[in-house]
Amino acid sequence: MKVLAVYPGSFDPVTNGHLDIIRRGSRLFDRIVVAILRNPEKEALFGLQERRRILQRATSGIPNVSVDSFDGLLVDYAQRRGARVIVRGLRALSDFEYEFQMALMNRRLDSSIETVFMMPSEAYSYLSSRLVKEVVRLGGSVTGLVPSEVELRLGARVGNRRRKATRKPATRAQRRSRG
Ligand code: PNS
Repeated sequence: MKVLAVYPGSFDPVTNGHLDIIRRGSRLFDRIVVAILRNPEKEALFGLQERRRILQRATSGIPNVSVDSFDGLLVDYAQRRGARVIVRGLRALSDFEYEFQMALMNRRLDSSIETVFMMPSEAYSYLSSRLVKEVVRLGGSVTGLVPSEVELRLGARVGNRRRKATRKPATRAQRRSRG
């Protein structure tokens, strides 16, 4: 029987830790669907379509991987896709409590779907999208931690935000000359 797995997340942005999990998952399952959560309440740095395209390019070399997005309950999405497995990465003990709660809630919602935890390479065990954004915002380098496309886009995006935030308000004379 062919086993389809869903690997859900925000991927804002995708890191090399996520890609490591996707590669490992692709060797274990017949197909793996990377599913980006469409969450209008959570303000993302990268738009949904942008995250989707970045993930598509970053995984284009892995034949049994596809990228999709979902909203609502993850188990409903997994059912619709015919997936029997939810893959989640487990980096450290600190991830465990939240992941354990999610896995058991998902099992309560649909006991036919199993959550499988996978450990990324230890090189990425401290890596998160949140930290990547923070480091770039504060002027640090994330080379080797995210795909180069993400690094370039982060530089442009966060740089723009910082420039906007530090732009001085226009003087009255400037406002008048702009009409
Ligand atoms: O990358 P993230 O932000 O840790 O991923 C979290 C995600 C998308 C897996 C989680 O928020 C999720 O599954 N959301 C869908 C809503 C849902 O099914 N909630 C009940 C599960 S406990």
